[in-house]
This record gives sequence, C-alpha cells and structure tokens, in this order.
Amino acid sequence: MADNRDELLRAIKDEVLALEASPLYNERVSHGVFPVIGEGSHTANIMFVGEAPGKNEAKTGRPFAGAAGKILDQLLVSVGINRPDVYITNIVKDRPPFNRDPLPEEIIIYGPFLDRQIDIIQPKVIATLGRFSMEYIIRKFGLEKELKPISKMHGTSVTAQTSYGPIEIVAFYHPAVAIYNQHSKETLFEDFKILQKHKLI
Ligand code: URA
Repeated sequence: MADNRDELLRAIKDEVLALEASPLYNERVSHGVFPVIGEGSHTANIMFVGEAPGKNEAKTGRPFAGAAGKILDQLLVSVGINRPDVYITNIVKDRPPFNRDPLPEEIIIYGPFLDRQIDIIQPKVIATLGRFSMEYIIRKFGLEKELKPISKMHGTSVTAQTSYGPIEIVAFYHPAVAIYNQHSKETLFEDFKILQKHKLI
C-alpha cells in the first residue's frame, strides 16, 4: 500500500493555516504566531494528546515547547521513550488567549483535525494529557460509560475499538500540574510507568 501519511498530514496543516472560521484565527494572525499541528513520527505507536498550545508553542509552532514540555520530556525519558519516536499533538490547534481552557466551540472546530490525525497515524496507544483530551478521546470512541473524573482515571487505561483494530487509551494528568506541585509530579511519574507495565511502548 502506498503510504501517503505525510501528504495527508500536510493537508491538515494547510487547512488549519487557512481556518478563518475559527474564533482563534484572528488572534493568531494579529499576534503573528503559528498554529500547532503536531510533531513526531508519522508511524508512531503512541500518540500524546494535550489541550491547546500555550505562548511558547504558538511562537514556535511546536507542541509542548515550554515549561509543561520540559516535564513531558522528563516523563518520556523516565520510561525510555525517545520523543521523535512518538507523535505529540493537541485537540485545539491555536492558542486560546491568556491560556484559558478551550471552549466547547473550539473543541468542536478543531476536534475533526485530531480525528483525522488519529486515522492517518493509527497509533496503538493514545495517551491523553489532561481532562479535556481525556474526555474528548473517551467520547470519540463511544466509551462515555467508562468516563470518570480525571482524579479517578489518571494512570489507568481502557481499550477502544477503531477501524484499524483495538487500541489502548491511557489517561494522564496534564504535565503543567507538575510545574509547581511536587506531589502531582510524583503522581505523573508513577502513572507513566503504566506504559512499561502494560507493555504499551
Ligand atoms: N499545553 C498543552 O496542552 N499543549 C501544549 O502543546 C503545550 C502546553
């Protein structure tokens, strides 16, 4: 099968760049910053899904390029993952002003791009970072019955059925929670071990 993942992912980038219908489009253009589409291997076994770009991410066009990204890097190293081997993205591809939580209408407009990224890359594991991506991914795969608060779901996994076979969804707290909270940081490091324990990497 000819593999045109690069082309299909490039098309997503072009569409997001031109997404004037987004309420965040004018923000992006007026600040002269970038959308953050995603980064990493187009054949990754594991995809990490965050919330939305922050200031550093919008400036560079790269996901998890700031303080939360430093924590994510440490978490990846702690379980022997090489960052370029995974794919890292967000639900919302443009930065919400003042780093506020994404609004439902923003998730509605950007969610389909994430859906397409999943269909193209076909990861075996989707690791959600924070409650917005956890809820989005759990609902996307029709698993709302499994949905619990992130305080209960963090560090656990559920199996989802996709068009390309079963996958595991693993929920983690957002790495930003660990920036100022040592206890949360320890929880995140402990939770990441599930990726090794369940042989998900
Ligand atoms: N927080 C996110 O959710 N995503 C990023 O890319 C950076 C910070």
